[in-house]
Amino acid sequence: MRFAFLTWLLPVVLALPQYNDGYQTVDSSTQPVQIRLSYQGPTAMMVSWNTFAQLHRPTVYYGLEPFFLYQVATSSDSSTYPTSLTYNNHVNLTHLWPDTTYYYLPAGSNSTVPYSFRTAKVAGDPTPFSVAVVVDMGTFGPLGLSTTTGVGAANPLQPGAHTTIQDISQQLHTFDFVLHPGDISYADAWLKEEIQQYLPNTSRVDNPTVYEHINNAFYDELVNITAYKPYMVSPGNHEANCDNGGTTDKTTGIKYTESICPVGQTNFTGYRNRFRMPSQPSGGLENFWYSYDYGMTHFISIDTETDLGHGLLGPDEGSPEFSGPFGLMNQQLTWLQNDLASVNRTRTPWVIVLGHRPFYNSAGGICTNCSAVFEPLFYQYDVDLYFCGHSHVYVRTAPVYLNQTDPNGLNNPRFTWYVVNGAAGHYDGLDTLQYPLMPYTQFAQDTDYSWSRFTFHNCTHMTLEAIASNNGSVYDEATLFKNRTCNDDSWKFPPW
Ligand SMILES: [Fe+2]
Repeated sequence: MRFAFLTWLLPVVLALPQYNDGYQTVDSSTQPVQIRLSYQGPTAMMVSWNTFAQLHRPTVYYGLEPFFLYQVATSSDSSTYPTSLTYNNHVNLTHLWPDTTYYYLPAGSNSTVPYSFRTAKVAGDPTPFSVAVVVDMGTFGPLGLSTTTGVGAANPLQPGAHTTIQDISQQLHTFDFVLHPGDISYADAWLKEEIQQYLPNTSRVDNPTVYEHINNAFYDELVNITAYKPYMVSPGNHEANCDNGGTTDKTTGIKYTESICPVGQTNFTGYRNRFRMPSQPSGGLENFWYSYDYGMTHFISIDTETDLGHGLLGPDEGSPEFSGPFGLMNQQLTWLQNDLASVNRTRTPWVIVLGHRPFYNSAGGICTNCSAVFEPLFYQYDVDLYFCGHSHVYVRTAPVYLNQTDPNGLNNPRFTWYVVNGAAGHYDGLDTLQYPLMPYTQFAQDTDYSWSRFTFHNCTHMTLEAIASNNGSVYDEATLFKNRTCNDDSWKFPPW
């Protein structure tokens, strides 16, 4: 008994040689790249990364001190898919302290300095926090959005302008995590870039490789954000397949369809492999629909691309581009209703839904199938905000229900607030507002690449900022007020 306290040292001693092996013996094929994080509740964090070879046992070393990573977590989750140039590895770190900074390194890293993350605040924690939001963001540089375009494309970056990734990287200290509800990397833009002669030294037969190079470029570019801040994603149409939803070569008249896509570049394959969103703890489905709490907010991610419900399988039903379904009939809708019904609005007064396609917009692209299915639930359960993209503009509406503007505006509305900001940037990445703007529109712009930031001040006030990527300035700001009292202290007495 006298030496029982030493038993905690045993795993530490055993772990140290593995840790040293992990980052001192570097094999480039097993060296971690594209590191990314996702919340799995307040006491767990999924660490994901890619390697150019399959890992037998993906392993992460971690701890509370940067140079004493005495804990080890492993998994057998290392997989690839046809055409992928890499393997996707995932390890879930569990039994963590909430709202706590941890340091970590995936095994095989050549970094001498560990990465770090902070676990989620427990549900009910009233501490103010902010979240960054990007939608419709592809790779920047020679494979994506740059200062030049191909033939017939527009909206290049201005010389010297910051990209959205660069601006968010500079403002990393201003938010706790990143939301990206759909259209991620724009690997399928390879076809448009190829047709418009933007890509040098490639041809259409290089498709499988170009598609994956764009994917790799994007996640490499994002790593200085996603290795430190959880990156919570939702499915968009550009995750579905390789043909960009059907691209026509105007010079030849050829309309390309999904039939040109090799196995591995259809049906959301890459998206399903690359991420491990918290669907397991929330009863959702893969990376398609799920929810999680963070402090005073309940975040829900929905799938606007497939599995809508009420007999509607997607926004473009009948299209040959159709993907899914991935769940049973009405599985998403039933899950969403149950999830909304189970929210404790005293503990998490804010309910925010992220999805890819707009229900209200002033630039077209409205998903009427989506609003037909989801909007009644948003109203029934008093969803505070639905945030989306798909349309490459910024449109902030008033709270709306069935096309009617809430007479209270943002001052304690009964209806849900809808915001579109799909202007994060990708090849040829801005759309055009349609005038006259819809009557519910409060602010709109279609000339600047941008991202957004939510700040939850307390249980009654949250602020949305729209930020110009090229200089980091806030060009639109609005605060939603909800009249409610929050006096729930039960979060201070967690169940563990
Ligand atoms: Fe989209």
